[in-house]
Amino acid sequence: MKKQVVLYKKLSPLQMARLHAQAEVTLIERLDADGLARLRDALPRAHGLLGASLKLDAELLDLAPDLEAIASVSVGVDNYDIEYLTERRILLSNTPDVLTETTADTGFALILAAARRVVELANMVRAGSWNRNLGPAHFGSDVHGKTLGIIGMGRIGEALAQRGHCGFGMPVIYHSNSPKPAVEQRFNAQYRSLSELLQQADFICLTLPLTAETERLIGTEAFALMRPQSIFINISRGKVVDEAALIEALRAGQIRAAGLDVFEREPLNYDSPLLQMDNVVATPHMGSATHETREAMARCAVDNLLAALAGERPANLVNRAAWKD
Ligand code: DGY
Repeated sequence: MKKQVVLYKKLSPLQMARLHAQAEVTLIERLDADGLARLRDALPRAHGLLGASLKLDAELLDLAPDLEAIASVSVGVDNYDIEYLTERRILLSNTPDVLTETTADTGFALILAAARRVVELANMVRAGSWNRNLGPAHFGSDVHGKTLGIIGMGRIGEALAQRGHCGFGMPVIYHSNSPKPAVEQRFNAQYRSLSELLQQADFICLTLPLTAETERLIGTEAFALMRPQSIFINISRGKVVDEAALIEALRAGQIRAAGLDVFEREPLNYDSPLLQMDNVVATPHMGSATHETREAMARCAVDNLLAALAGERPANLVNRAAWKD
């Protein structure tokens, strides 16, 4: 008998067909109130779940006594209680690697947009207010040759370092759990303590996962260490930052600008003070959002789920302790 899969994210026809060939699939296209009610109805029969952007807490998962595996279409796994999943021996997998380069591209897009005031000046042209040559009031800051500070030197941090070092001649400094000799060698990157990095970098880029240790890592004290010409970039998770402290730092001129792809609450509220500031570039959590990468993520998640449901170890198993060996 085919296993039951609940899909709470619509995939391409190709990936849907792969799932349908191996499993009975219930598709929940939208996670609105109706979709959530359908999810709760489907959970008691589910052997596998596949989707993203939904907090799957114990209360929901307790509705799924036969659940064997969850394939998250994301690299971040902050929506899951890993300890609880491991206790129940539910295999959690994610989609690393396939999104690394695209997410680093997004990081660099934010660096360039915030430093060169791309959105603000493009909006000025669109509004018909470009009526003379630009003067200092509209000048931006150089990117090439400036110091790139990366907090969290995982795969995405490394891809960002590559862009900065090889493409823009930027000295790279970084902070992470442990020094990364390979990155130091390839990109001449130098390890710094967090406070040193905050004081020395022109661009301070967050690429670290959200965990109990990193939640609100960057708050009032951290912003106070940054310099008035610093530009703050977040492509990790909004909750790594105390957003009220960020707003205050921007208001007080403690930092020059921010490029933000992630927020404490998503979607970002239209009345957020961040959206009133010309020196903030805000994008809608689009780090991995290209046709090619989202398809690669979907394929990876389907591979992971089908392997788990066939009793094989998924290539991207997150909670290794849940594996039967
Ligand atoms: C990821 O893959 O974690 C992206 O941030 C999308 O959530």
